[in-house]
Order: sequence, then C-alpha cells, then structure tokens
Amino acid sequence: VEPYAVMGNPIKHSRSPHIHKAFAMQTDQEISYTSILVPEDDFQAAVRRFFAEGGKGLNITVPFKQQAYEISDELSERAQRAKAVNTLILRSDGCLVGDNTDGIGMVRDIMHNHDGRLANKKILVVGAGGAVRGVLAPLLAENPALLVICNRTAEKAFHLAEEFQHLGRIEAQPISKLNHTFNWVINGTAASLAGEVPPLPEHLFEAHGRAYDMMYSKQQTPFNAWALQHGAEKAYDGLGMLVEQAAESFRLWRGVMPSTASVIADMRAA
Ligand code: ATR
Repeated sequence: VEPYAVMGNPIKHSRSPHIHKAFAMQTDQEISYTSILVPEDDFQAAVRRFFAEGGKGLNITVPFKQQAYEISDELSERAQRAKAVNTLILRSDGCLVGDNTDGIGMVRDIMHNHDGRLANKKILVVGAGGAVRGVLAPLLAENPALLVICNRTAEKAFHLAEEFQHLGRIEAQPISKLNHTFNWVINGTAASLAGEVPPLPEHLFEAHGRAYDMMYSKQQTPFNAWALQHGAEKAYDGLGMLVEQAAESFRLWRGVMPSTASVIADMRAA
C-alpha cells in the first residue's frame, strides 16, 4: 500500500481523503490517503519527513501552495505559471516534482460536467489572488474571445493581466468600469467565505450566460445566488472542480484517470 496524503492548515474539513479513496477503489489501486495537519512553520520539514518515510505523493492546500512551489525540485509549466503547487510527486530518481491541477480541474468541470463551451466565449474572472492565478492559463488555452479580469484591488488584476498577456486575449478592468457582457462569470475571490459578494454591476450576463463559483458549500454560495438573480441562466459551485483537480493529481501519481461523475454525484447527495 503506497502512502499519499493532503497537507494543510486547517485540514479537518478536507474532502480529499474521501475523494482519493473512492478513486482508488474504482481503479483497484493499492494506496492509502490521509490528511495531515501541518503547523504553519513546519511545512518543509513535514514534507521531507513524509517522503523519507516512504510517501509517494502529496496534495497541498491552504496555506502551503506557495511554499510547495518553492521546495519543488522541478516544476510543471502550469505550476510555474500558477506560482503555486497543489500536487507533489516523488519521481523514481528521488526528484520532487511540483504540479498544479486546480486550473485544469476547473476547466474540465466546466467543459465535461456542465457541457460548457469556452472557445470564442467572453469570460469574466473576478478576483486576483492565488486561486485566480492558477486558472488563467488553462482558461486562455481554450481560446476564449475575451478574458476580462477584475478585482476589488484593481491594480492586482492589472498586474495579472499583464503577466498572462502572451498567452491570449486577456485584459483587466476596474469593477466600476466593466462594460462588457459575458457568457461566463467566474468568481475566484474569497468573498463567499465571508458571506459576501463582490460589488459587481447588474447587467453582466449575456443571454444564456452562466456563473461559476470556485468555492463550494452545502448551501448555494452568495455569489451564485446573486448571479441567478441577475440574469445568469445557471450557476455552478466548485465541487466538480475539487473532484476534477483530485482526479488529475491521481492520474499524475498512478497513471490512471479515475472517472469523476459518480464521485461528484455521491458527494452532492451526501
Ligand atoms: P486565494 O488564494 O483564495 O485566491 P488570496 O490570494 O488571498 O486567496 O486572494 C483573495 C481574493 O479574494 C482577492 O482577489 C481578494 O481581493 P483583494 O485583492 O482586493 O484583497 C478577494 N476578496 C476577498 N474578500 C473579498 C470580498 N469580501 N469582496 C471582494 N473580494 C474579496
């Protein structure tokens, strides 16, 4: 049985062990998967210990994705762009490879689970923190007509847009000056955690436009409630993203892609 785990702080509510155990059963993989609470100042040592004791791979969550990026011996291109690592892989030569599966997880959730098309669509991304940084390159890879990013602190959005310029049509706008309508409005802010909604203008959605909140919770998120009241045809939360990013990590570690639909459905029903 090969050991895997997720490290974070807090970690108690992490759904990753449940998800990866479901994947392992489904694909007949002999792995264990635990959650490890790591003190804020002990991350590096905890990672070294885990691999020294035979660990094969780690997921990394808040607040350690940046530190995981820094301690990786090698980085995938998507981890380099995200400047954050959510998946550590111990390669057979002992090299610790850092990857980031969050962005591809969200894009797959939108495209495969919600039959969403992104090519030639107008997309608004709200927020400019770590979560948003991770999804910009995978979104741009789908060739949207336009990707606008906005943020409470506008200058952070401008910096991000500049940094991702070379990957496609991306621009930043102050929230108060948003003057397009969008096929997709994606919330990547932490506002929902505080029960808040970013102060967005009223007429954001194109006909049949849809909303996506990278957060997920048992109740509808405040952002999704707002979106449905303001013209969104549908609003999705981040549960599918959570499962899809896990599936991509599992594939990187084990070389098999688990199927996600039944896991998402079970979690939704629970
Ligand atoms: P994460 O890693 O989750 O992205 P982060 O890097 O701290 O966390 O970024 C949080 C994002 O949520 C930022 O875009 C932040 O806006 P600011 O850059 O202006 O701080 C946004 N955010 C957090 N709380 C918010 C709120 N109540 N309303 C609007 N935006 C909020």
